[in-house]
Amino acid sequence: MQDAVRIEGVSKTFVTRSGQVHALADVSLTVGEGEFVSLIGPSGCGKSTLMRLVADLEQPTAGTVEVFGKTARKARVDQDYGIAFQQAGLLPWRTVAANIALPLEIHGVGRRERRSRVAELAEMVGLSDFADHHPDQLSGGMQQRVAIARALAERPRLLLMDEPFGALDEMTRERMQSELARITAETGAAVVFVTHSIPEAVFLSDRVVVMSPRPGRITSVITTGIGRDTARDEALRESPAFFEKVTEVRAALHGAPVRSPALEGR
Ligand SMILES: Nc1ncnc2c1ncn2[C@@H]1O[C@H](COP(=O)(O)OP(=O)(O)O)[C@@H](O)[C@H]1O
Ligand SMILES: [Mg+2]
Repeated sequence: MQDAVRIEGVSKTFVTRSGQVHALADVSLTVGEGEFVSLIGPSGCGKSTLMRLVADLEQPTAGTVEVFGKTARKARVDQDYGIAFQQAGLLPWRTVAANIALPLEIHGVGRRERRSRVAELAEMVGLSDFADHHPDQLSGGMQQRVAIARALAERPRLLLMDEPFGALDEMTRERMQSELARITAETGAAVVFVTHSIPEAVFLSDRVVVMSPRPGRITSVITTGIGRDTARDEALRESPAFFEKVTEVRAALHGAPVRSPALEGR
């Protein structure tokens, strides 16, 4: 089995007009094949930066990033993963089906195969009846489902998701979480998932990675013990084991060293 992501000793410093910003300090993390790992931490702790390093949209100042044993650059060129970020990022002039088909078109997949794959994906995210609609005719949750279908179009073994449900209302969000869990269980894709929500992280993940305020470091890694084959449903949300893990992550998050000058010297 090959690891999906290997991050070793990664630091990232941005040089800006007003000086240096130390976004990440010595981060090491391995995400196994088919594993679901969430990153959680205060705003500005470098979660998006870490995702962007994996996606080869930024270069580390120190350390290395590997995706399926390749450099981040090579994995990007080979399209080894699907990406879904907070904004669905759909093309408004394209229908749902045409948005989902986009990566397949770009890679020269033939029309017939494209059509059957798009039908399968639309079904998977529950949008078969909306294939001919345009994004502005859909709710936020439906748009996000289109984005997820598009990210899955080429059957990636890895999904990079940065607060994909951040803009959704609570009910839609919980439904999307269950759908994502079902889809990743079905496809066996590994996921790196950024969220602000502790229950969301616990509900979805094999492991929850807790980061400190800037410069972001990993302060704890909590194994949820919720197996890939456990149904992610209402019963899980209400189970004592779930609450226990939520409490454990919350304690780890709040126990992280706080660097705010306002709190120093108390
Ligand atoms: N391109 C950039 N140039 C300068 N600073 C940046 C850049 N991208 C991110 N940062 C800074 O790095 C820190 C981490 O940002 P980010 O990774 O977006 O945090 P998070 O996603 O955890 O909220 C922040 O202080 C942010 O302002
Ligand atoms: Mg972010």
